[in-house]
Amino acid sequence: MHVLVTGAGGMIGRKLAERLAADGAIGPRRVTRLTLADLTAPPAPPAAFPVETVAVDISAPQAAAGLVAAAPDVVFHLAAIVSGEAEADFDKGFRVNLDGTRLLFEAIRARGNAPRVVFASSIAVFGGPYPELIDDDFPLAPLTSYGTQKAMGELLLADFSRKGFLDGIGIRLPTICVRPGAPNKAASGFFSSILREPLAGKAAILPVPDDVRHWFASPRAAVGFLLHAATLDTVPLGQRRSLNMPGISATIAEEIEALRAVAGDEAVRLIRREPDETIMKIVAGWPRNFAPQRALALGFGADRSFRDIVLAHVADELGNRVGG
Ligand SMILES: NC(=O)c1ccc[n+]([C@@H]2O[C@H](COP(=O)([O-])OP(=O)(O)OC[C@H]3O[C@@H](n4cnc5c(N)ncnc54)[C@H](O)[C@@H]3O)[C@@H](O)[C@H]2O)c1
Repeated sequence: MHVLVTGAGGMIGRKLAERLAADGAIGPRRVTRLTLADLTAPPAPPAAFPVETVAVDISAPQAAAGLVAAAPDVVFHLAAIVSGEAEADFDKGFRVNLDGTRLLFEAIRARGNAPRVVFASSIAVFGGPYPELIDDDFPLAPLTSYGTQKAMGELLLADFSRKGFLDGIGIRLPTICVRPGAPNKAASGFFSSILREPLAGKAAILPVPDDVRHWFASPRAAVGFLLHAATLDTVPLGQRRSLNMPGISATIAEEIEALRAVAGDEAVRLIRREPDETIMKIVAGWPRNFAPQRALALGFGADRSFRDIVLAHVADELGNRVGG
């Protein structure tokens, strides 16, 4: 099976590529070739099959045709401008997140092999007011340009699937936490930095109150969702091709308690409270908790607790050592 990953140099893309290279298979199907694409050629993990890396701007006309020329069997479409940047740069957000997605789907249509396409969507497709628990019938009403672009991508995915041009599945990822590496331009960055920095012995700023609740999954769980979506039978999805992924609903206070349990009071003391009205306002529009029954019934599995999310970071990124 030939697998193409767009956005393969990003946080989730790299982890997905490493897992594909290490496993050499998705479920029962063997990977025989892997193409990794990003704005600059992403790193190629060592693998027992050919791995090619491509530098490409998916929003450039004709770029996608080259990516799908070899008719990949599975396409993971992760390339995107994230929330903060899409809000700050309206044109760039629509160019990459909407035009780039449409150009990719059009190129797949022109190639004519109807591959499985796993589209990384987001819970940003939803907007408040929310019920305490968001079920699978909650309407799409995004409150950001990023959320709007993801919702439009979902609609394209569904219509291209309906026409048989591709076999699409959209997975609405929770906020991925703990995000490793340097902070990106996502407005949700502090949810990760208040854990990541203290776990590495560094100070972090908390801009919102402790009772703020949000919906999370670990990078490990996100890779698991993508892989499960790649081989799942899509017939039970019908025309509703996008799914809310399972996750953990946690407050800032619960995040901090998980940090304390793993790294002690010393780590918690590194969090400095600096309330930020702008961030508070953005966060107030975000969902807090889901009942993702469809995804659970289809076998998607998430982390079991917020402590597990912290422990996954300590194991995967810090070699099981805390405190820097
Ligand atoms: N991390 C999260 O919390 C989260 C939550 C919901 C959805 N998602 C979605 O999952 C996907 C991956 O997220 P991530 O956290 O790894 O983001 P990321 O920013 O780390 O990676 C995105 C990658 O896309 C690439 N890219 C941007 N514009 C491009 C273009 N024009 N052509 C080619 N590549 C381009 C970037 O260079 C980057 O490497 C994205 O689609 C994102 O919207 C992420």
